[in-house]
Amino acid sequence: MTTPSTPHPLPGTPDGPPPGCPAHGAGPAGPLGAGGLRRLYGPEAERDAPALFEKLRAEHGPVAPALLHDDVPVWVVLGHSENLHMLRTHSVYTRNSRRWRLIQDGTIAPDHPLTPLFAWQPICSFAEGAERERLRGAVNNAMRKIDQRGVRRAINRHSNRLVNEFGRDGRADLVSQFTDHLPMLVMLDVLGLPEEYNEEMVDAARDMLQGTETANASNAAIMGILERHVARRRAKPDDDFASSLIEDEARLTDDEVAQHLRLVLIAAYEATSNLTANVLRMVLTDPRFRAQLNGGQMTVPEAVEQTLWDQPPFSAMLGYFAVQDAELGGQRIRKGDALLLNIAAANVDPVVRPDLEAGMQGNRAHLAFGGGVYECPGDDLGRAIADTGVDALLMRLPDVELAVPETELHWTNSLISSHLKELPVVFSPRRPVALSGVPGKAAAGSDWEITSPVPGTAAAGTATPRATPPAAGPAGPAPTVPAQRGGWRRLLEWVRGD
Ligand code: HEM
Repeated sequence: MTTPSTPHPLPGTPDGPPPGCPAHGAGPAGPLGAGGLRRLYGPEAERDAPALFEKLRAEHGPVAPALLHDDVPVWVVLGHSENLHMLRTHSVYTRNSRRWRLIQDGTIAPDHPLTPLFAWQPICSFAEGAERERLRGAVNNAMRKIDQRGVRRAINRHSNRLVNEFGRDGRADLVSQFTDHLPMLVMLDVLGLPEEYNEEMVDAARDMLQGTETANASNAAIMGILERHVARRRAKPDDDFASSLIEDEARLTDDEVAQHLRLVLIAAYEATSNLTANVLRMVLTDPRFRAQLNGGQMTVPEAVEQTLWDQPPFSAMLGYFAVQDAELGGQRIRKGDALLLNIAAANVDPVVRPDLEAGMQGNRAHLAFGGGVYECPGDDLGRAIADTGVDALLMRLPDVELAVPETELHWTNSLISSHLKELPVVFSPRRPVALSGVPGKAAAGSDWEITSPVPGTAAAGTATPRATPPAAGPAGPAPTVPAQRGGWRRLLEWVRGD
């Protein structure tokens, strides 16, 4: 821990320099911008964001001033207790971006590359007071209505179907062929959208979250699909998340429903695909994990929890906004300032984790799901997708190994997440398994325990599995997992509004 720097106002505050002011050290492309502050974008941030945040921690302490794209100033909250304080002090820190002074005074252009992350929308995250309770209440109610056992079966089915597609090859890239698709397939099921949208949604979601020049167009493409879906479900409800939102007593408008579907889809997709990829990467590369897993000491859910500490799927959230002057981590926060919830930095704060090598089993105090009134409502579903997906894959490919040295693994880094680019693996070729039955709408259940398909059995058990897979050979008995309704049939039904 270091001593915080002398508190100083952010550029663009009443007593700070104007954002981007050349007289305050702004360089066109270097790591430092207005006021000599560090940029959270550009080559340095993309190369090694954790190192950048440790520099900020060393220079400023638990709350540091820095610059977003276009040198827009922001407070980066690095400390665990400071982040927790911000999350829990709803009366001072809100997610309502209309409170951001730089939006109010027009400093931030509407086409700012991060606009999809903070542009005000009629969703629970941006609302305050009774309106927030109305909208978040509808999301919570719809979450409760999800058929949890049915979803778990769908996760197993989609996992096995994805493995079927590459199992015979004896090699695969588990990111582009597994983790990029599994959460989207599951979420399309949950939302009631046909899975033919998978590729399009995966591309648009990824593009939007990277803050690229086409991010706004990708956002519009996703909204178009969701708006059409809402119109169909308004006319003819079904047993899905979209219909639950439409039918909720909160009486959401069509636009509100579409916006909440987008929120759920994007939050769930990006976070869960990152989590699943990072758990797989750890299982494949970390000798401690591999040894522990093979020795039966660590369950897949425990591996997931450790990953939520070490590589939180959302490394940061933009943003929180001060509704009044406040003091945080030794810094003077002015009304209208923006703050970045820095989950990754909070999870490695030396105050709560003096030894980063120490295992965190049984400790769920990480901030991977945020906290306070904004805490993620999909934490159990996100955990279930990662747990069940990784477990199903290890069951099918028990001898799976990394095909390249670990040093050849690379991540695409954005402000809010790091996405593993590729995870090339090799394994003994496996024949496809039969997929039978109808997924998703099976008998309702109430628990989120993981149920792995056991080779040779038709149904899943309810015990939390050990990750150690049985040594089934390539010609071993084919597990039976529920199958999907014909893809074209589903699409046709959907197009026709059946
Ligand atoms: C491993 C998976 C996941 C992680 C790590 C994760 C993480 C997060 C985080 C950090 C937030 C922001 C909290 C804040 O602002 O303080 C959030 C919000 C949210 N998440 Fe998740 N999430 C995951 C999965 C899901 C799933 C599966 C769903 C839905 C099915 C979901 C739905 C939401 C929603 C609706 C919000 C907005 C809540 C609000 O503003 O009131 N998330 N999530």
